Amino acid sequence: MAEGELHARFEAACAIAREAGGLAKELFRARKPGTFSLKGYQDYLTEADGQVERLIADRISKQFPGDTFVGEEGGGEFGARTWIVDPIDGTANFARGIPRFCVSIAMVEAGQPAIGVIYDPMMGELFAARSGRGATLNSQPIHVSITTNANEATVELGWSPRRPMAEYAEMLARVVATGAGVNRSGSGALALAYVAAGRIDGYAELHINAWDALAGILLIKEAGGWVSDFLANDGLRKGNALLASTPALSAMLREATGISR
Ligand code: IPD
Ligand code: CA
Repeated sequence: MAEGELHARFEAACAIAREAGGLAKELFRARKPGTFSLKGYQDYLTEADGQVERLIADRISKQFPGDTFVGEEGGGEFGARTWIVDPIDGTANFARGIPRFCVSIAMVEAGQPAIGVIYDPMMGELFAARSGRGATLNSQPIHVSITTNANEATVELGWSPRRPMAEYAEMLARVVATGAGVNRSGSGALALAYVAAGRIDGYAELHINAWDALAGILLIKEAGGWVSDFLANDGLRKGNALLASTPALSAMLREATGISR
């Protein structure tokens, strides 16, 4: 894609993430307790997810009618240039009144993430990356942490009902045994943005979907981090295991999580 076309898409991704995040924040503030449904065991859905996704899909289709769109809620088609979107990542938090969620927008060209934008509307933080152009937080460059010692590291371990809780508990025990502190904050995309910004040192999940992962993967690569091969075995369509961390801790975390490549 010509530089100008990519630049236009990057600017649009940032603007759309801010607009969509603004809507998510409004809906969060107006929400009434208990107004969510469950798609299944521990799998939350709110009306806001669909509303925010429709806004993003509308903006993208109007500005880039030749591109395709895949959203967590509405699905879609993969093409040469595809936007892959999670309108609200951290839906369980959103549904329960916890102000930790984000909008995640990635644009994939020829199978590789070219743009990744994550916006946290409650904090007003926009994490943005373009392939080969570095990563920023509110336009300032960001880098993964310089942590080398597991005893001072923080690692987020994600879990969803797509994997048995027992597998998560086993991974948790192995990571805790390295000396790292572990958390699970309920938004995989935001946790990946935090790895890129050096706020935490790693993220691992035994299965995560492309709409949760792609923007964060590009952010972490552009911020100097190490990322497992999420796109292997058609990760784009099927999701995959994911480990991402600061390079100094990657060998130790590969061993502890069992996510080795
Ligand atoms: C989930 C969150 C969670 C991660 C799961 C995701 P949702 O997405 O990102 O942190 O561990 O894999 O499915 O349901 O909040 O959009
Ligand atoms: Ca999600």
